[in-house]
Amino acid sequence: MSEVKINSGLEGVVVGETKISDVDGVGGQLFYRGYDINYLVTRNFIDVSWMLVFGDWPSSDQHQACNQFLLDNCMLTEEQNNLLMAMPNNIHPMLVLQSFVPTLSPSDMDLSNRPSEDEDACLGLFITAKIAALISSVYRKDNNLDRITALEGNTINERFFYLFHGRLPSDSEITILDCVQILQMEHGFNAGTFAGRVCSSTKAPISSSISASIGTLYGVLHGGADEAALAMAEDIGNLDNVEPYIDKILSQGGRVMGMGHREYKVVDPRAKILKPLAMSHCEDDDAESLLNILIRVEEVCRNRFSEKGKDIWANVEFYKGAVFNSLGIPKKYFTSMFAMSRVYGYVAHFLEFKKNSRLIRPKALYVGKYINSKSNIE
Ligand code: ACO
Repeated sequence: MSEVKINSGLEGVVVGETKISDVDGVGGQLFYRGYDINYLVTRNFIDVSWMLVFGDWPSSDQHQACNQFLLDNCMLTEEQNNLLMAMPNNIHPMLVLQSFVPTLSPSDMDLSNRPSEDEDACLGLFITAKIAALISSVYRKDNNLDRITALEGNTINERFFYLFHGRLPSDSEITILDCVQILQMEHGFNAGTFAGRVCSSTKAPISSSISASIGTLYGVLHGGADEAALAMAEDIGNLDNVEPYIDKILSQGGRVMGMGHREYKVVDPRAKILKPLAMSHCEDDDAESLLNILIRVEEVCRNRFSEKGKDIWANVEFYKGAVFNSLGIPKKYFTSMFAMSRVYGYVAHFLEFKKNSRLIRPKALYVGKYINSKSNIE
């Protein structure tokens, strides 16, 4: 039998072309449609999401239509709210999103400010808007807080903040939220995006594709690392405990959450933006103490990894929790907020891939037994 080379984890395998984003793991740079992430975080959130999904910056009419479309569609209908209330209590928000998204019917879309002639683009943006309402509704349900129906907030992220906290964000809070959400919108053929592309290669609808992506994002080796990294900092508890805690994890072959990346061989450019953001917005002692623990974990890990000649650095998940913490968002909701922003990337990939897709169907090398051969099966 000829030798078969298996690329474990598809590492280094190029499975397609894209014009949506480029991850330069050696240079430590990230580009959406050719624009560096450091520039994009200075731009308006709606403009960046439009540019990511449709490929060009929006005109002011397109900006206006997109913003209004998201606002028009971000409340839950009575029926959707009833469905959410019927779900088990305290189910993780990522599981709610994964199961709820396919139930969102195109016939529920308010198209009075239609952003595009493309039905899938509208449906994708409709799903992003509903996700904002779903996360905040899950949070309020989990915490026995009243349902909010007031239409406050002039952008989708302001509306989300209002629906979540029951108050509008300050200027600084909305600037931080927009920045973090821009940072996590898109990232090449990451596991979640690739899962969505696999799903859409079968001609399944965009809602199924987004649901597959969300399910994949949930795991702690991917998006779920944001919640896990902050939980780790809480578990460590104080600065003196950092070294023994990390050494114990590493000696047992465990993973330090928020460290390491398949693509980046240097520090993740998103972590480079998030660290100073976290440092300038930790307003109370608890938040500051958690941030100091994270900073120390990064130092200890860098020492331990470099002693072993490993290029393992902080990734986007490492400091993100500290930033969300400063916005009063509990860790249980971090990954779903990641999904709320990454969905723009999923939509962009769905639209790009549907123009030129082929069924994704790799091969497996069978290493099991043969009980019957063709000749003795009757
Ligand atoms: N902690 C401890 N060791 C690590 C870590 C880590 N965070 N990351 C990598 N390593 C070690 C592995 O143990 C392995 O060591 P070995 O060669 O001695 O066996 C080596 O580095 C390579 O690890 P792989 O798992 O093969 O690398 P891969 O590219 O598959 O993994 C991953 C990337 C999954 C992100 C990994 O770095 C990890 O588990 N990180 C922690 C979870 C995390 O932060 N995930 C979020 C990533 S960003 C995102 O998805 C949005």
